[in-house]
Amino acid sequence: MQGSDAFGIKKLAIAAFFASTTVTTALGSIQFYHTTQGTPLDLSLGSEEGRDTEAVKHFLETGDNKYMSDESVLKKGEELYLTACSGCHGHYGEGKIGPGLNDDYWTYPKNATDKGLFETMYGGAQGMMGPQYGHLTLDEMLKVSAWVRHLYIGDPAKAKWLTPEQRKTFKPFDPDANEG
Ligand code: HEC
Repeated sequence: MQGSDAFGIKKLAIAAFFASTTVTTALGSIQFYHTTQGTPLDLSLGSEEGRDTEAVKHFLETGDNKYMSDESVLKKGEELYLTACSGCHGHYGEGKIGPGLNDDYWTYPKNATDKGLFETMYGGAQGMMGPQYGHLTLDEMLKVSAWVRHLYIGDPAKAKWLTPEQRKTFKPFDPDANEG
């Protein structure tokens, strides 16, 4: 029984692989969409670098960002956020010429999911929010996402991107605790 299940899963994986290769815009097995235009995102536009990490592979197949539960990426995520995002979104995501990213209000509700946040980052939204694929690799975008979630100061109960387990222990961002 177990053996045939494993075989079934393998067949599914192979089918998913071939299905994805027929869609030139998709590298993994799920499709990503532009946040305001709703058109499929062409992930091949991004840099070749940073595509083959475990986290990126898993993300392209599932839409689930493993770095959300990996504290070791936060420092890098912060560094990238400070060079690519904070000028418009504020040092702590409090908002500047771009909207705040540290509360539970989203112009585009899908940004409360790992997949949606990535789609907005990769493909951009309106006006000044341009596509970020020329600035960050896919792997870097997943790390920035982890940092953006870390900056959250709202009610953990409203943090849809956290698992029920994470909601119990999540501590809202405290800039003072972060120094040093
Ligand atoms: C040049 C300024 C600028 C930069 C740089 C920038 N953004 Fe934005 N961002 C904006 C503006 C303006 C909007 C509002 C666009 C809209 O409403 O369509 C926005 C919107 C967003 C949204 C949607 C928020 C919501 O409420 O749904 C997210 C998420 C976001 N940006 C994340 C980022 C991240 C992460 C980075 C860095 C990788 C970044 N942005 C870099 C200006 C910028």
